[in-house]
Amino acid sequence: MTVTIPTNIESRPIAIIGAGTLGSRIALMLATQGAEVRISDPNEDARAKGVAFANDNLAKQVDATPNGKAGKIVGAATLEDALSDAWLVIEAVPEKLDLKRAIFADLDRLAAPDAILTSNSSSFPTSEFIEKVANPARVLNTHFMMPPLVNSVELMTSGATDDRIIALLMDTFPKYGLTPYHVMRESVGFIFNRIWAAIKREALAVAEEGVAAPDTVDRIFRQNFGTDLGPFRMMDQVGLDVVLNIEEHYAALREGLPEGPRKLLHRMIDEGRLGVKSGKGFYDDYSK
Ligand SMILES: NC(=O)c1ccc[n+]([C@@H]2O[C@H](COP(=O)([O-])OP(=O)(O)OC[C@H]3O[C@@H](n4cnc5c(N)ncnc54)[C@H](O)[C@@H]3O)[C@@H](O)[C@H]2O)c1
Repeated sequence: MTVTIPTNIESRPIAIIGAGTLGSRIALMLATQGAEVRISDPNEDARAKGVAFANDNLAKQVDATPNGKAGKIVGAATLEDALSDAWLVIEAVPEKLDLKRAIFADLDRLAAPDAILTSNSSSFPTSEFIEKVANPARVLNTHFMMPPLVNSVELMTSGATDDRIIALLMDTFPKYGLTPYHVMRESVGFIFNRIWAAIKREALAVAEEGVAAPDTVDRIFRQNFGTDLGPFRMMDQVGLDVVLNIEEHYAALREGLPEGPRKLLHRMIDEGRLGVKSGKGFYDDYSK
């Protein structure tokens, strides 16, 4: 299937679908080159909060971006309002497959014919929700990590994405202070999250087998890699229920992953140890 590569992208709007943690942060980054960024969210309160977050941080982010120029960040009550003439549409709604499938069908129907349609999903490759998309060649994953603190973004094909679209985004994203990485084939977990999953899994296995206590693992990891935090401290920050969810997703897709890490996480969660958010996890020194 052929795609029309969007032109005049400097002056055309960008649409972000979902005003939550990631949507508002992506909007902030993409508003640093002068164009309008529209945030769509059916939840009025979430939409207002997302727009306020991006606007409150914009001046600082523009200063931090070479040749930065503040754009306009606005809320859009309807998808149609958000999409009109947008050259780039980024979906950042909750991690629910049916919701994302429905949204991509709408985006494909309502967005400009040359609009690039991307998803920020951490667990689903876009190949899982292009069933009702007429032209999957304009669809891909753009996985933003946690801007503006962590500005990597992994670009991954839908299986049918036109190479010229990936090249355009590889070329364009650095202007917004982002560092794009090309994931060359479909991979659940992209590049970084797969490697991080392996580190978490093995650290959990080491503790579950009684080879070393969590704080011993963290200390040797920090010394050898020169990081501020070790894997157990980082898992406590993410939340052990979230860590378990992610690991269960990998285990459902890949045969032969060890069960010990999941067993240990289940035990921790059953004891109410969810990490920082519950006041205790692998460490007890968090105040609620
Ligand atoms: N939070 C993270 O650390 C992180 C990191 C990388 C990627 N992601 C991915 O980003 C996506 C969003 O995650 P999040 O943490 O920002 O979620 P979130 O729950 O903070 O925000 C989701 C927003 O989507 C809105 N929404 C729900 N239905 C919608 C619809 N039909 N149209 C428009 N908006 C709708 C909700 O009202 C909410 O404001 C997920 O796919 C997640 O996997 C999250």
